[in-house]
Amino acid sequence: MSVMTSPATSAHLSGDASSPAPQALPKPNLISVEEAKAMDVARMTDLFKAHMNPGQLHFMKLLGFHKIKVERAEGMFYIDQTGRKILDFFGGFGSLAFGHNHPRLLAARQKFQEENRHEIAIAFMSQYQAALTHNLAACSPGDLDMVFLGSSGSEAMEAAVKVAERAAGPKKPKIVYAENSFHGKTKGVLSITDGSLYRGDFRLVNNTVRVPFGDIDAIERAFRSDPAIGTIVLETVQGGGGIITAPTAFWQKLRALCDRYGVLWVADEVQCGYGRTGRFYAFEHHGVVPDVTALAKSLGGGKTAMGAMIARREVFMKAYGTPKSAMIHAPATFGGMGEACITSIEALNVLYDEKLIENAASTGAYLLERLEALHAKYPKIIKEIRGQGLMVGLEFQDFSQTLPMVLRPMVAMLDDKLKGSLSGFVGALLLRDYDVLVAFTEYNRNVIRLEPPLICSRENVDTFIAALDALLGRGIVAIVKDFVKSQMG
Ligand SMILES: Cc1ncc(COP(=O)(O)O)c(C=O)c1O
Repeated sequence: MSVMTSPATSAHLSGDASSPAPQALPKPNLISVEEAKAMDVARMTDLFKAHMNPGQLHFMKLLGFHKIKVERAEGMFYIDQTGRKILDFFGGFGSLAFGHNHPRLLAARQKFQEENRHEIAIAFMSQYQAALTHNLAACSPGDLDMVFLGSSGSEAMEAAVKVAERAAGPKKPKIVYAENSFHGKTKGVLSITDGSLYRGDFRLVNNTVRVPFGDIDAIERAFRSDPAIGTIVLETVQGGGGIITAPTAFWQKLRALCDRYGVLWVADEVQCGYGRTGRFYAFEHHGVVPDVTALAKSLGGGKTAMGAMIARREVFMKAYGTPKSAMIHAPATFGGMGEACITSIEALNVLYDEKLIENAASTGAYLLERLEALHAKYPKIIKEIRGQGLMVGLEFQDFSQTLPMVLRPMVAMLDDKLKGSLSGFVGALLLRDYDVLVAFTEYNRNVIRLEPPLICSRENVDTFIAALDALLGRGIVAIVKDFVKSQMG
């Protein structure tokens, strides 16, 4: 419906009946949606340099990522501008449990749009938020019943640390975190993210205590010596650290220690949760329940931005249980938008209907078995295979000192950080020559991270293993020389 503006209305809008009508604003030089879709790699590169992150392009070039424009994405594959299908074993660092564009998620979103449903629900309650929070409580053990919705893992973890701080009370403000942890890049959780790369020279909160991951004695010493410690935050499986797990005995002792010393345990399941390890939460492998947890990544079904903090009811009520304290915690503008919620609701239903958690367990076991066979075949190249379900790390031997002397200056010239790290070379060549995408880790440059979608089949694993086998079969010197040559060209 078009709206006619009467002279009286425009005078009212301009505030002065005698002032001239405002001139139409010239439209800035805007790119349209169709032009964006049709853009070529050269123009994308120019705009990336002009408006986004010129320095990051350096790393994309090292890995060969800068040549690719994704045109479509379906299931386990990206399809690039040449029609090439790229097998996705990167999986958006765990954001793509359902693969790309799962048809049930597309259908739910399309129907929602066609019905003109509402998105922003700040004034009213939302039936979609109500259903999603119910579903998350239903998927969570114990009394992990109270849910805060946000739009990223960092936001979910900020909410987790805040609820714990308030529940622990003013006498216990200190937070324990682990070496090699990653909990996000926003300022609060950056203080418990253990990477000089990210921490830079930012001024961070200083009420933190750092312990080695998985070291129960160090944690007990910290709890015993400092009664101001009120919270401990740990990833159940460290992702950025290079897929590091701790045994069941550690988690059980941790739960007991937290109960003894009155410390709240926050389990960061942003990357390892949501079925990836073969249980909904990775901590469920160990028969223990934390006080607070957080999910994000695949919670949005790979179609939307969704994060959630889930707290035990008692903890939540201590923090925000009164009318006075309730509003401290009220969500941000985009927390729990309509279409995002219904995407997440449908995604949780698909996760169980399609038995994707069971598939993560069985296909993940198959992946580990096939990788162990490669480990046995190439013991001088592969150092260790580790992980659980479809969250797997492959650590290469450290070649920084053993690369043939002739290659060292060439490799050093390329990039100081990649020097001697086979994972970069292997990842780049897997993509270039075998159409396979893998991920890397921030803290350990010798590790390749494998987090394929939970829809991954044995056939996909076979394709990946055949590619890796063929590449490693060329030998280290050939791999490094080929990589160096590709960078010179
Ligand atoms: C364990 C963990 N926590 C928190 C985050 C932060 O999530 P986001 O990037 O959505 O802010 C990540 C992201 O990689 C993560 O792996």
